[in-house]
Amino acid sequence: MSVNFLPVKPFLRATVRIGEKGEAELHTPGGVLEVEAPEGMGQRDFLRLLRLLDGSRTIGDLERETGLDGEAVREVVAPAVVWGLVDDGAVPVASSGLAVLSRLEDVLNRLLEDLVFAGPFWRGVLERPETLHRNVFFGFGLENWFFLFRENEFDSAVLALAESAELRAMLNDFYQEEHRHDDIVLRAFQPLGVTRDDLLRARPLPTTTALIKTLSWWARTDPLFFVATIGVLEGRLDSDSDGPDGRIAYDSFLAACDRIGLDPAFVEPMRAHARVNAGHDHGSVSRELFARVPGVDEETERRWHDKAHLFMEAYAAFFNGILEHYSDPRRPLLRTGDI
Ligand SMILES: [Fe+2]
Ligand SMILES: [Fe+2]
Repeated sequence: MSVNFLPVKPFLRATVRIGEKGEAELHTPGGVLEVEAPEGMGQRDFLRLLRLLDGSRTIGDLERETGLDGEAVREVVAPAVVWGLVDDGAVPVASSGLAVLSRLEDVLNRLLEDLVFAGPFWRGVLERPETLHRNVFFGFGLENWFFLFRENEFDSAVLALAESAELRAMLNDFYQEEHRHDDIVLRAFQPLGVTRDDLLRARPLPTTTALIKTLSWWARTDPLFFVATIGVLEGRLDSDSDGPDGRIAYDSFLAACDRIGLDPAFVEPMRAHARVNAGHDHGSVSRELFARVPGVDEETERRWHDKAHLFMEAYAAFFNGILEHYSDPRRPLLRTGDI
């Protein structure tokens, strides 16, 4: 019999008692089982072995303490594992999904301030938008389109999340709500003379591609971490700041566009997308999903905090890449094959 599946320190999930006729009994919540010593093992040794299965001894310890050989110990323990009577006795240590998410959000928010908003793109947009070349604003729209157009690459990867039917249903709803959002933004490029066909022939900046690929990788390899990033991608840049005519600007970028009087034909489709996002409350998607996550272990949480840095570096690079590339008006708005 293969014994590779034995726990390192076997724990018997039953109380050992001796029956009226001296037989060994295992009392479990599900009932009483009468068990017999294997051939060649005395009843006393058998009972002693069962009583030592308290999750503190290795197979080697059990051999030493009972004087039985390893083969005999395994002959008792292995069938008990198969019947579900013996496991490693570990009590899973987990925090609630929302508690883990709120600690992760602390890290993400701090990084958002330190890396993203303190970076050259957002400082320019928030503090002195009039000094930026207009192509930077258009470039922001274009790179957002590339991101939205490829969003299904990562959103679709979590559709089959096996852990819970409820999570799966919510992710499917989110996917449906995001579907074809690229078409809303597309209308913003009409005043630039950029069509959908032009965009399909063009390619995003390497920093945009890096963000898309990083998210795609996580959606496939660490789907709940990807789910945690949705709140950042969908909502944190929102602001309630008023536009020049007193309407809600929807986010800081649109507020800056209003401030410098950018062509409404470009700005309004971008605002329409922001409005749809706000209407679906996509900034709360991560929280709604994590409210259904039963528990997250400590090691996973630690890993997510490490990944938060990498994610925010990729996110900051996405914005700063826009400033760096589109600040130079000699560069065409679209990067096509002949560049
Ligand atoms: Fe969207
Ligand atoms: Fe959205």
